[in-house]
Amino acid sequence: MLKETRGFDFTGYKRTTLMRRISRRLEALKLRDYGEYRDYLELESEEFGLLFDSLLINVTSFFRDTAAWQTLRETILPALVAAKGPGKPIRVWSAGCATGEEAYSLAIALAEELGLNEFRERVKIYATDLDEKALQVARTAVYTERHLAEMPAELRERYFEPVEGGFAFRRDLRRQLIFGRNDLTRDAPISRVDLLLARNTLMYFNTETQLNIVRRFHFALADPGYLFLGKAEMLLNHGDKFEPVDLRMRLFRKIGSSTAGMRAPLPTGNPTSEPYVGDAGLQSAALVSGPVAQIVLDRSGSLAMMNSRAEMLFSLNPRDIGRPFQDLEVSYRPVELRSVIEQVETELRTAELQDITWRRPNSAETSAFDISVVPLLAPGGEMLGIGINFNDVTRYSRLRDELEQANRELEHAYEELQSL
Ligand SMILES: C[S@@+](CC[C@H](N)C(=O)[O-])C[C@H]1O[C@@H](n2cnc3c(N)ncnc32)[C@H](O)[C@@H]1O
Repeated sequence: MLKETRGFDFTGYKRTTLMRRISRRLEALKLRDYGEYRDYLELESEEFGLLFDSLLINVTSFFRDTAAWQTLRETILPALVAAKGPGKPIRVWSAGCATGEEAYSLAIALAEELGLNEFRERVKIYATDLDEKALQVARTAVYTERHLAEMPAELRERYFEPVEGGFAFRRDLRRQLIFGRNDLTRDAPISRVDLLLARNTLMYFNTETQLNIVRRFHFALADPGYLFLGKAEMLLNHGDKFEPVDLRMRLFRKIGSSTAGMRAPLPTGNPTSEPYVGDAGLQSAALVSGPVAQIVLDRSGSLAMMNSRAEMLFSLNPRDIGRPFQDLEVSYRPVELRSVIEQVETELRTAELQDITWRRPNSAETSAFDISVVPLLAPGGEMLGIGINFNDVTRYSRLRDELEQANRELEHAYEELQSL
């Protein structure tokens, strides 16, 4: 109904959040169920505003989470300015800026870092939100004594002028801030930004929407580019897009071409120097005893070797040596490997399969594996066979699930705290 009549689509928000917020409105109005509330919404036009306010919790403050802002000022801003080079423009985006305190905090931090003249010449701060009413407050730039209570006195002196009803952010610096409406779930991001603040906003969205937004943030950021999240927000499934600069303070750096080189996997093809060929007995003893299950296929695709861990895990035995791999159960369980092997043979590149779960016969527990299929190449580059490694990541995967659960609870608790 909200989507049809008001054009606001809350599909991407966490269902539990929406239900809690709507239940609050039901309680306040002493209504019994969603049906009654729907009728009420249709009849009472001002109810939409109240529901909207309770869904889009606008709570914010200047330099919210002081320690994180201090880290931003001491580590990220100097690095950002140094990487930019003298005179180059600096673009910053405060996404979900609510009533503007975050954007003005950024302006102050950057003006302190660069000096007022450079700030005026180089900085553009784009501050966006879904809520027009909150943006209106942000544009007026006037805050009460209470809003400014936590701000150090000298910053308040330097950056605010007394006006009727409170204190206004300095007029001569205000031109560097541009406030506008932007719906993070569907509008195009601001592009080529050096620093992006999305604090206490992501946590209202469901996992899929968060994923899409973070993907867009990655695209929006320049390289190098930094992302600053809220206290209860993490980037659990984005290890390929962002790396932490300071995890506790929720400061991340985009993984782009300037950082990718540091993480590139080792090349597998055409080694340039002769490999060390030592004692064959020692080599096979090392292979057999390794903790990672390993299987080796020869050029014709038959099982050539396996270690003890692989024997145990996949119920193989020495009589299987020489059998075509496709005749063995391990070629399709825990995961279909035959097509992956074909691909590796054609492309001569390692293929990685992640988080493959498997419940072994007669076992109560599900295990998780990262599997790599590696082309084994002679020094001249010709193909000798295929190596398959099964890395047991069950413990890691369980920890990650627990962390995700703990994070969901943290988000929930923090959201409740904000709404209170
Ligand atoms: C709790 S405030 C965070 C304010 C500020 N970033 C901070 O950390 O203090 C969350 C803001 O997200 C905004 N918001 C909610 N959904 C949004 C959307 N789809 N697109 C953009 N902003 C959204 C709300 O209007 C609200 O102002």
